[in-house]
This record gives sequence, structure tokens and C-alpha cells, in this order.
Amino acid sequence: MTSLLDRREFLTRSAVTGAIASGALGRYLAGQDAPSKRVVVGVMGLSRGRALALNFAAQPGVEVRYVCDPDSTRAGSCAEALRNVGQQTPQAIADFRRILDDPEVDALICAAPNHWHAPATIMGCAAGKHMYVEKPCSHNPHEGELSVQAARKHRRAVQMGSQRRSGPGTIEAMHKLHEGVIGRVYLVRAWYNNLRGSIGIGKPTAVPEHLDYEMWQGPAPRRPYLDNRIPYNWHWFWHWGNGELGNNGVHTLDLCRWGLGVDYPVRVVSSGGRYRWADDQETPDTQTVAFEFEGNRQITWEGLSCNRHGAGFITFYGEGGALDLESNGTYTVFDERDKEVVKVPSASVGETEHVVDFLQAIRNDDPLRLNAEIETGHKSTLLCHLGNIAHRTGRTLNCDPANGHILGDDEAMQFWRREYANGWEPKV
Ligand SMILES: NC(=O)c1ccc[n+]([C@@H]2O[C@H](COP(=O)([O-])OP(=O)(O)OC[C@H]3O[C@@H](n4cnc5c(N)ncnc54)[C@H](O)[C@@H]3O)[C@@H](O)[C@H]2O)c1
Repeated sequence: MTSLLDRREFLTRSAVTGAIASGALGRYLAGQDAPSKRVVVGVMGLSRGRALALNFAAQPGVEVRYVCDPDSTRAGSCAEALRNVGQQTPQAIADFRRILDDPEVDALICAAPNHWHAPATIMGCAAGKHMYVEKPCSHNPHEGELSVQAARKHRRAVQMGSQRRSGPGTIEAMHKLHEGVIGRVYLVRAWYNNLRGSIGIGKPTAVPEHLDYEMWQGPAPRRPYLDNRIPYNWHWFWHWGNGELGNNGVHTLDLCRWGLGVDYPVRVVSSGGRYRWADDQETPDTQTVAFEFEGNRQITWEGLSCNRHGAGFITFYGEGGALDLESNGTYTVFDERDKEVVKVPSASVGETEHVVDFLQAIRNDDPLRLNAEIETGHKSTLLCHLGNIAHRTGRTLNCDPANGHILGDDEAMQFWRREYANGWEPKV
């Protein structure tokens, strides 16, 4: 077992400063990676996508040419926000295929709802665009596999929006774990807490004039418009979303998997339900999921969507101690007697670094070196899908450690893929 890190090493250099200086953002800030190539992007889905559009627009040599949303209010308001920051004159559009049709566009950024992520990625790659696709990178496991295939076939850079992969403090914490700062790691626990209210019971109502509901639905089979699904609450319906596990759980599961050094699980169990409110929500608001891996290793995730009292973000347990990781990359190391060895502060989640990492992969024509390359994103997203399938079937899933496929359970494998609206089935 590697020994606990010498405390002096921590104290004599700032972990986070070191990671920034040696990482992509450091080189970029130092002018060593000057934006030699202008990068033209279009952004679809303008809630999270609005923040991303502003972030891309702030990077040198980036033109945000299109902002796209079937909600014309959001598209117009985002275009105006970009014009106000200067040097950007984006077109506000409703159909992202216009972005794909523009040969000067380098990349599509997809922050539309989850049912769009893989179809947009697959269409984007086929149109020759690089993709920044929000987490989770797919709505179901099959779509994740297709997205990886599309990235490979068209040799495109496809980055999943798990921005902590580019957070300097988080990167440093992962290096320390892999160097053995707490010895062999065998258990990782992750938590998510929030105080979400009830979404009520939906009523059929006229689609608002500012929303093109047909384009919003896209690949998902058609459903009548109800007044409590859009925006945001679609997360809580299996037809479009993946519950809290696929919404916020994917951020921590991605880091758990990274720190533990595992790919696909061998066993997945889940318990929980919609415990707090009686309403339309299909996905659990209270859920505990456990993923076992070869070599006596495990990840657990506890999500409480309706209670703020939380245990933490992520804790790694090893044979020589424990490491607490916070959402912003701050980490604390404990020895085996649970005495704090050191706390290393960090202030950056990794939002800008993640965008810069994506731009560098495009400019350097190096699609595979992305911090959250689609195959990595797929493996982490798959954990969410497997947790949800275990929940929906009420069964323990046994999985193939080579690819995560569910073994000996045809009913569970029914959830591996979905039905599509006519003409929208993704093909690679
Ligand atoms: N990485 C992060 O930290 C982070 C943070 C928030 C959200 N997200 C992700 O971003 C995605 C969107 O979440 P949200 O909270 O913004 O949801 P939201 O419902 O508030 O916004 C989604 C937007 O996408 C638009 N949209 C729907 N179909 C579209 C289409 N065909 N083309 C363009 N736009 C379309 C909707 O009209 C809406 O404006 C989710 O997948 C979520 O997981 C990631």
C-alpha cells in the first residue's frame, strides 16, 4: 500500500494552483494555446444552454452564431444577452438542423432535455460537427453506445457536460487517490440533497404560443401537452428524463467511478420511491442505489430530492484512510484513525476549464483527449440508467463487467432502448 501523502507536500504548494498552472486553462491563460483557429458554435436548449452560450462567447476566437430553442422567448432573450456582452450577433432560431446545415459551424452544444442528447449527438457527428452534450449523455443505454459509435465513425470531439472532470481541485484529488493517498480504495459514497416541491397533477391545456411543442418533443413519441411538464419537470417522467439519478446523480457517480478506477459494474440494486409528495412525478424523490464492481469495490448513491439535510458530496474510503471531496473540488484527507491530515481548498467547479478543454480538442484536432470524452460520459451515464432499471424492475441486476449489459433478465433489458417518434430513430 502506498503511504499517506506527506503533509508538508500539501502545505508547500497549492494543489489547485498547481493543477491550473499545468492544465489546459493554465496554458491557455498563459497564451501558450492562443486560439489560432476561430471556432463557430451553435447552442440548443437555452436554460443551461444560456449559461454555456455566454461561457463560449467569453472565450477568445469563438463565435456563437446560433442560439436555438423551440421556446421563442428563451431564444430571443438569450440572443439579446449575447449581443449585450459584445462582439456576438447570434441568430435566434427554433430548429437546430439549421445549425447542422451551416458548413461553417464547427460545434453543436446540446443542452436540450435528455431525450434529445443522443439523437442530437448522432445527427451532429454525422453532419461533421463536434459536440458538447450535456449530462446525462443519453436517455437510455443503447443511445449511449450509439453516441460512442457516432463519435468514432465521424472522428468528432464529443464532450459530456460533466464539468467537474475539468475542475483543478477535483483533478488533483483524483491524482492523489490514484497515487494511493488513502491506500486501496474500496468504497465510495455519494449524496445529493435538495428541497423540491410537488409538481402537482397536470391538466391538458393549449400549448403556449411561444413554444413549438412538436420540435420540443422531437425523437420522443408524441404526448399531449400538460401544464406541469415544461420547463424542467420533464426530468421526473421516464418518457423524457432520468430522475434525480440522471439529473444530479450523474455528476457524483462520474467522479466516484473515476476515483475508484472502475468502468462497468457487476451488480446493481436500488430502493426508494416517490415518498414525499403524491403527484404526477414518476421518478423517485428518495433513492439509494448500490453498484458493485469486480475486485471487492462498491459505489453507493443516496438522493433526497425533498430534504436539504445532507451528509456531504462524495467520500472515498480506502485501506489507509478516507478522502472527502466537495462539489467545488475542495478535498480533505483523513488517516485511518480518522484524523484530518490536510484540507486543500478549491474555488473552481470547472465550468470554464471544461469549455476550454473542448475548444482545445477541436483546435488541436485531438478528439480523444477530452476530459469527459463520450466513452467516459457513457460509462458514467450508464450507471444512472442501470440504477433506474433496477428501480423500475424492483430487481437486482447482474451485469457483464465488459460492457454493463444486463445478464439473464430479458425484462430488464427491455429498458435498454426506447421507441422513437416516426423518422427520428437515431442511426449510426
Ligand atoms: N452540467 C450541468 O451542471 C447542468 C446544469 C443544468 C442542466 N444541465 C442539463 O441541461 C439540460 C437542460 O436542462 P434545463 O434545466 O436547462 O431544462 P429546461 O427544461 O429548463 O430547459 C431545456 C430547454 O431546452 C429547450 N429545448 C427543447 N427541445 C429543444 C430543441 N429541439 N432544440 C433546442 N432547444 C430545445 C426547451 O425549450 C428549454 O428551453 C438537461 O439535460 C440537464 O441535465 C446540466
